Amino acid sequence: MPLLVTGATGRTSAGVVRHLRAAGEDVRVLVRDRDKAKKTFGDANGVEIVDGDFDDEAVLAKAFDVVDVAFLALGSSPDQVRLEKAMIDGAVKAELPHLVKLSSTATSHDSVLLVGQLHAEIEDHLVASGLAYTLLRPASYVNNLFYAASSVAAENSWTGAAPTGRVAYIDIRDLSEAVALVLRDPALRGRTYGLSGPDAYTFPEIAELLSRILGHEVKYVPVSADDRRSALLGAGIPEWFAGLLLSLDTSAEAGELSTLTTTLKELLGHEPRTVEEFLIENAAQFRN
Ligand SMILES: NC(=O)c1ccc[n+]([C@@H]2O[C@H](COP(=O)([O-])OP(=O)(O)OC[C@H]3O[C@@H](n4cnc5c(N)ncnc54)[C@H](OP(=O)(O)O)[C@@H]3O)[C@@H](O)[C@H]2O)c1
Repeated sequence: MPLLVTGATGRTSAGVVRHLRAAGEDVRVLVRDRDKAKKTFGDANGVEIVDGDFDDEAVLAKAFDVVDVAFLALGSSPDQVRLEKAMIDGAVKAELPHLVKLSSTATSHDSVLLVGQLHAEIEDHLVASGLAYTLLRPASYVNNLFYAASSVAAENSWTGAAPTGRVAYIDIRDLSEAVALVLRDPALRGRTYGLSGPDAYTFPEIAELLSRILGHEVKYVPVSADDRRSALLGAGIPEWFAGLLLSLDTSAEAGELSTLTTTLKELLGHEPRTVEEFLIENAAQFRN
């Protein structure tokens, strides 16, 4: 019986598929773009592709047909809540035995973090659906630091509205490995996992780390939330996504993103990657 991975061309899910295939599992993927899926997975035998709209009942019936467990993960967009709810409804119709949902560390209706509010709405729908489920609530992806890369490379500095908020990070590669473990082992299911790597930093501390790694001074320049929003909109970022990015800063300042846990290490059975390791590995992107 295959395991279903949705949003499989995405950053988290693509890694999940690779781990599942390496463990010899048959995998079905649900994607909106078949060609992108073919490029992502090459000629990987054992990966069955179902493509189409995630709110199309016929597509969902095909995706969830005779599946034991599914991973629900979609990128952030104004459509995310509608699409994830439709997928949960599709899973109910297909009598899916278990659904593992990717959520967020700051999931709450009162969260300052925009995606925290979206996930709270989706989680409510999942709980009300009657499906058996597992919730994975990861910390901020360390890849978010790439948002600063071009500015650091060009000007040895970057701006933001979170001068004091501490942010816990997770490396997507470790997250993908943990997701695959939970999908493969029924004994690990049915819980809510808060997942983070080993460390949390303020942005000025990230600047210090980058200074050491790059061998020259890098500065984090604090600006007001209004100035941050104007800068994001001025850079051509659509309003909805600018609001999401700004909320990463305001949520950090509100202390919502700082939670460290040892759950990831316990699941993996080895040390998760650190922020410093990630920055050393990707230093070229921060150099001019
Ligand atoms: N970034 C963080 O710091 C962070 C922290 C905690 C939790 N999360 C959560 O992690 C999730 C994102 O995971 P990820 O980074 O692995 O996702 P991702 O790479 O951004 O995208 C995952 C999948 O969603 C699909 N997708 C995106 N927008 C879509 C749309 N409007 N309609 C249909 N499909 C769409 C993408 O399809 P294509 O490949 O075809 O584009 C991709 O297959 C979000 O729910 C986010 O809240 C993020």
